[in-house]
Amino acid sequence: MPRGAQSVQQLANAARARRLNRRNWQRAPSLACQDLGVTIADLEKEPHAVAAMFDDVAGKYDLTDTLLTVGVEKLWRRATVKALDLKPGQRVLDLACGTGTSTRALTRRGAQVVACDFSEGMLAVGRRRLGGLPVRLVGGDATSLPFADNSFDAVTISFGLRNVADVPRALAEMRRVAKPGGRLVVCEFSRPRFRVVRAMYRFYLTRVIPLVAGLVASNPEAYTYLAASIVAWPDQYLLERQLSLAGWQQVTHRNVTGGIVAVHKARKGPAD
Ligand SMILES: C[S@@+](CC[C@H](N)C(=O)[O-])C[C@H]1O[C@@H](n2cnc3c(N)ncnc32)[C@H](O)[C@@H]1O
Repeated sequence: MPRGAQSVQQLANAARARRLNRRNWQRAPSLACQDLGVTIADLEKEPHAVAAMFDDVAGKYDLTDTLLTVGVEKLWRRATVKALDLKPGQRVLDLACGTGTSTRALTRRGAQVVACDFSEGMLAVGRRRLGGLPVRLVGGDATSLPFADNSFDAVTISFGLRNVADVPRALAEMRRVAKPGGRLVVCEFSRPRFRVVRAMYRFYLTRVIPLVAGLVASNPEAYTYLAASIVAWPDQYLLERQLSLAGWQQVTHRNVTGGIVAVHKARKGPAD
C-alpha cells in the first residue's frame, strides 16, 4: 500500500477505535457508578496508586483470585501457555506477573522466564512462591521496560494490561523488547458472547465480587475497582484493533469460557 494511503487507513482505524472506545466507556459508567459506586475518574488511577493498591492486596491475592474465579482461572492460564507455544531455551517475558501465578505456568516448557511487575508487594510474594524455579523476577513499569530492544522470543501479560495507565505505550514497549517475528499473548477479561451470559456476568461482577471480597480480601475496595475496570475494558474486537494500531501484526483472539476471557495473539514483523 502506498505510504499516504496507509496513513489515511491508520487514521480511519484510529478514529474508529476512539469512537468504539468512547461507546465502551459511555456504557460503563451507568454500571460502574450505579452498581459499584465507582466513577470513570476513579478508574483513571495514577500508576503509583495502582502499584500501592496491589501492594495492599498482595498477601491474599491468590486466595481471593481462586475463590472469585472458582478455579476456572486454570483454564485461562492453560490457554495462554498454549497460545505462547514456547520451545525449550526460548526467552519469555511475563509482564505484570504479580505474585507469579501466570509465571509458574510458563516454567514447565523449559523456557527462560523473566517476570516483571511494578508492585514490590506482589513481587515479594512472588519471590517466596517461585523460589527454586528458574525465573528472574524484575521490578519495572510496563510503560518503560528495563530491557534491551529485541531481547525476548515471546512477551505475555495476563490480567495486567487492563490496569496499565497508558496501554498504547505499554504495547509499544512490549513490541520494542520482542525479537523480530516474536510473539505477544495477552490474556484479559473480555465481553461474553451471549446476552444471557453477559447478564449473569454483570450480576457476578457487581454483586458477588464485592460480597466475596468483603469477606476475604484485605482491601475490598480494590476489588470493586477491579470489577469496574473489567466492565470499562474494551471488548475483544477493539483490543485487536488497539494491538494492530500499536504495530503488532497477525492479530487474532480466542474466546475462553464464552468470552469472559479472551486470549489475543500477535507477532512482531520479521523486519521490525
Ligand atoms: C491482576 S494482577 C495479575 C497478576 C498475574 N499476571 C496473574 O495473572 O495473576 C495485575 C498486575 O499488574 C501489575 N501492573 C499494573 N500496571 C503495571 C505497570 N504499569 N507496570 C508493571 N506492572 C503493572 C500490578 O502490579 C499487578 O501485579
